[in-house]
Amino acid sequence: MTVGIHRLPGVGAEVLGVDLAQDLPDREFEFMRAAFAEHGVIFFRDQQISEAQHIAFAQRWAPININRFFAAHPDHPEIALVSKERDQTSNIGGGWHTDHSYDRKPALGSILVARELPPEGGNTLFASMYAAYEALSDELKDQLGGLNAVHSVRHVFGEGGAYYVDNDAGGDRIGNTAAAEKLPDVIHPVIITHPLSGRKALYVNPAFTIRFEGWTAEESQPLLHQLYAHCIRPEFVHEFVWRPGSIAFWDNRATWHFARNDYHGHRREMHRITLGGEPLSGAPPT
Ligand code: SIN
Repeated sequence: MTVGIHRLPGVGAEVLGVDLAQDLPDREFEFMRAAFAEHGVIFFRDQQISEAQHIAFAQRWAPININRFFAAHPDHPEIALVSKERDQTSNIGGGWHTDHSYDRKPALGSILVARELPPEGGNTLFASMYAAYEALSDELKDQLGGLNAVHSVRHVFGEGGAYYVDNDAGGDRIGNTAAAEKLPDVIHPVIITHPLSGRKALYVNPAFTIRFEGWTAEESQPLLHQLYAHCIRPEFVHEFVWRPGSIAFWDNRATWHFARNDYHGHRREMHRITLGGEPLSGAPPT
């Protein structure tokens, strides 16, 4: 098979000609690594991989970071279950976010495998934080380059957090509020130098960023909301339509994602493995 790449509008690219059920030759793996660094999210179609092969593929990239809040696969604790039952109304990931920005070493990325899909709907949107950064005015780039932001998990996964208030996304699918309550807030630069590509990317997100360092939450909201509206401009976004055998592998330092919740009455189950990352450093001024 010849390995190739098909760039998608907005963000991301489909990797062609690979079979992730096989032990990939180094040449194919390096091709994929370059595509991942360049595009921020890569997609695969028509793959038939077992849970063990999902784990083996993930381990080739980085150590697995076991999710503390999602239900785990009963036989493979490395795999988090991202599921929604027929009778549930709210889903997991139904707001723009990037995984684990609340960690001191934010996750490198996540590999999501479709296991059961609704007949239609349940697409996932991705947005490029490289493109979002690059489209900022020089004045805003300068201002943001001097700022850090505080990220927190408690308001999402903690007691009384977003998953527990007025919806049914908790239950067996989300848990471990105690761990969320213990996790200290962390600080990351607002503009990072991406550890893999060396490019600059905007690193705040609506789910976990609570304020700029040294600013109150109220003072931070107008600028954060301005950035959030900017980040999801249509030209930075790709909507991925899942099919049986589809896999998405996104870089949490270069993209945001959003799982649409538009398939009520149907079941959706995805298997997610999240990869450990490293501390993020700021971008020097240009
Ligand atoms: C997530 O990891 O945020 C869920 C993405 C999805 O289910 O499409």
